[in-house]
Amino acid sequence: MKIDKAPVLLTVMLVCAMLIAACSAQPTPIPLPTVIPTQTPIPTPTFAPFVPMDAAAQADALGRGMNFGNMLEAPSEGAWNVTLQESYFDAVKDAGFKTIRLPVRWSAYTSAEPPYTIDPAWFERVDWAVQNALARDLNIVVNVHHYSELMTDTERELPRFQAMWRQIAEHYKDYPANLVFELYNEPNGMSAKRWNEIAAETLEGVRESNPTRNVMLGGTDFNSVNGLLELQLPKDDPHLIATFHYYLPLEFTHQGADWVNGSNAWLGTTWGTGNDKSYIDYDMDRASRWAKENARPLWLGEFGAYRKADMDSRAKWTAYTAREAERHKINWAYWDFAADFAAYDRAENAWIQPLLKALMP
Ligand code: BGC
Repeated sequence: MKIDKAPVLLTVMLVCAMLIAACSAQPTPIPLPTVIPTQTPIPTPTFAPFVPMDAAAQADALGRGMNFGNMLEAPSEGAWNVTLQESYFDAVKDAGFKTIRLPVRWSAYTSAEPPYTIDPAWFERVDWAVQNALARDLNIVVNVHHYSELMTDTERELPRFQAMWRQIAEHYKDYPANLVFELYNEPNGMSAKRWNEIAAETLEGVRESNPTRNVMLGGTDFNSVNGLLELQLPKDDPHLIATFHYYLPLEFTHQGADWVNGSNAWLGTTWGTGNDKSYIDYDMDRASRWAKENARPLWLGEFGAYRKADMDSRAKWTAYTAREAERHKINWAYWDFAADFAAYDRAENAWIQPLLKALMP
């Protein structure tokens, strides 16, 4: 029998949200950081001009992808022990991945008062990352990540969020179509109805400069499948790709994760029974049914299991989730490259083979 774990999950997720918010609270007004790493300039890019791409074709082209997690969305880059390096783009490209998802904490580099200007030095840092991906013919999905004040003080922060998006969209409007925007990582703490309205309004600002670039949007409840089922995308906009995240069962994927209260009690949870698999089947079915009913392409933007789970179970869970998504024609990006859920060992400059094999059989 399939059990609906939503209420338990929701509670755990809310606790996570409070913890994440507590850990990543930022001072206001926000001092512009002095820690933007210096970078080797890359030659002035000579990219093809933007040519609109059908959203379903774009979702297909995303293939298998990798999240550059804990880098540009840390409170400041390096604060979570990972600094983005040029060699990471090569590692991802050489392993055969097609897409990088780049989480970005724009809110840490945006002034607290109108007109909410984004620090030009930060734009340069993100440009460098985007250009490194494009120069290797990788797709790149840039989002707004960990703007926790937007989740806790939504109505106050909304003008700032929308001003950020207007600037980001304007800044990248001439970049080729394989730069995709994602409006917000894991919305939570507000009703699905409010999030649907906010997403639609924010999208209008993006559309002023990017009428036909593909934009990703996920539902509330931390981009869960339940949240996806309540997502309503503006009907008259064909250039949208829906996105969701998958970390179930949380007791397995987040065992011992220090940002999830009580998760030490889950240490030692293994994964791999037939029953375990049936939950993933069920959720992928639900997600893919939503996509069909709503005639929208769908992308699994994050999934992964924390490093404290045993490697054998992690590899099995990762392979099973990836293959189930693929069976439903859903492309994905693994969370994450080289941080807490790492598929790549930074010290060794090498892929962690069981995870790489799980992702790229
Ligand atoms: C968060 C990360 C977290 C991951 C798994 C991501 O969306 O940004 O901080 O490690 O989910 O919980």
